[in-house]
Amino acid sequence: MHDALQKELATYEKRTRKSAAAHKRAIERIPLGVASNYRHYEPYPLFVKDGKGSRIHDLDGNEYIDHNLCFGALMAGHCHPAVVKAVEQELHRGTTFGMPHDQEWELAEEICKRYPVEMVRFGSSGTEVTMHGCRLARAATGRDKILKFEGSYHGLHDTVLVSVKPKAEDYGDPEAPTSVPGGAGVPQASLANVVVAAFNNLASVERRFKENPGQIAAIILEPILMNVGLCLPQPGFLEGLRDLCDKNGALLIFDEVKTGAKLAWGGASEFFGVKPDIICLAKSIGGGLPLATFGASRAVMDLISQHKVFHGGTYNTNRAAMAAGLATVREVLTRENYAHVGILSKKLTEGYRAIIKKSRLQAYVASAGVNGALMLYPQEIRNYRDWTKIDVDLWRHYWFGMVNRGVLAQPYWWDEQWTISVQHTEADIDNHLAVFEEVAPALAKAQQERGASVGAGGH
Ligand SMILES: Cc1ncc(COP(=O)(O)O)c(C=O)c1O
Repeated sequence: MHDALQKELATYEKRTRKSAAAHKRAIERIPLGVASNYRHYEPYPLFVKDGKGSRIHDLDGNEYIDHNLCFGALMAGHCHPAVVKAVEQELHRGTTFGMPHDQEWELAEEICKRYPVEMVRFGSSGTEVTMHGCRLARAATGRDKILKFEGSYHGLHDTVLVSVKPKAEDYGDPEAPTSVPGGAGVPQASLANVVVAAFNNLASVERRFKENPGQIAAIILEPILMNVGLCLPQPGFLEGLRDLCDKNGALLIFDEVKTGAKLAWGGASEFFGVKPDIICLAKSIGGGLPLATFGASRAVMDLISQHKVFHGGTYNTNRAAMAAGLATVREVLTRENYAHVGILSKKLTEGYRAIIKKSRLQAYVASAGVNGALMLYPQEIRNYRDWTKIDVDLWRHYWFGMVNRGVLAQPYWWDEQWTISVQHTEADIDNHLAVFEEVAPALAKAQQERGASVGAGGH
């Protein structure tokens, strides 16, 4: 570990003593002391006191400009007044009935207006809806296998918790990657139904279809790979996948848990002009409450109407989440707000680029919609294996350096990216950039001393 990183870690520990104590207590009862493995990092995670607008406070009272925003679930920002008002009203009318109500049709209409789907069902998490999306595709095609990309994350069910962060010694042929379980407990039998291909590599996808003739039900992908920082599809890649699905009788599933709200008003289909068969949405469509949905054409969704595919869930369409969802699509994710965050995103991205150039840091900024990431690698990454070469200690230096100066530049982990909320202001972005300007020269210096291509990757 280089000296400058050690110094930042020492400062972090000095500033966040209450988080350290809270973590010490939590670890006795909660594995790793956190509710999701993604929230754990060394030496211990920040514990939050509260959040409002674009800011949060930790237990020690330090304030941060928040670009973590719950791993991108809060394009609305914290406590958006429209969301708070809608949820508050609902709390007095009963939150959950397990019976149909009017908000369901209203939100279904809103979703079908924005995204190229004709019918939807609702749930509470991204994991749930990608699971139902895969099941629907299997039912629609009568096939069992799902093709996913190496390095992509689609939640926690057995079909997709495969080759998420595989180790180099396990991942095999770059064009026909081995299906590697994403942890113990994923059955060997389910691995047989998961075919892995390389992102941005149509030849790899074509080969996988040939090796599994008439067996692949669907390709599931994030149109922008956001589990490796931010990796854009190369021109023609999404169109090529659409063609390959059509030629091979498979469905195309867009996991838009992240991109759906944050990329554009109409998500990735609008942004890239490619229409999938099934869309899965979660995170920012709920304005901070647990809300998710999956949708497709009437013909595909009718598999549920005909009682061929089973879908359920006690908390589906609970009224607090639905009220938040309605307020979010009607009052937060508006065309005007997309224009506002578009300006902020441009400012942040261009500001980072100028600072990178000035400080001679070997890095680039990848950006799309309200998301972006500092990629500590000299050239654009195209897939998971490129990403594993990112200099992890340098990234930690960046993250803790920013945190120590009041900017939560993104969630912890170098596979994540920043989010800008509708409540961020130009002043927030100026502040963020001023802090990066302070940190960047130290990063460049450490990079030179360490040699630019120290590799690591995986967590
Ligand atoms: C692209 C993608 N799909 C699915 C999921 C799973 O969503 P959830 O954590 O709500 O289950 C995530 C979560 O980070 C995600 O980023």
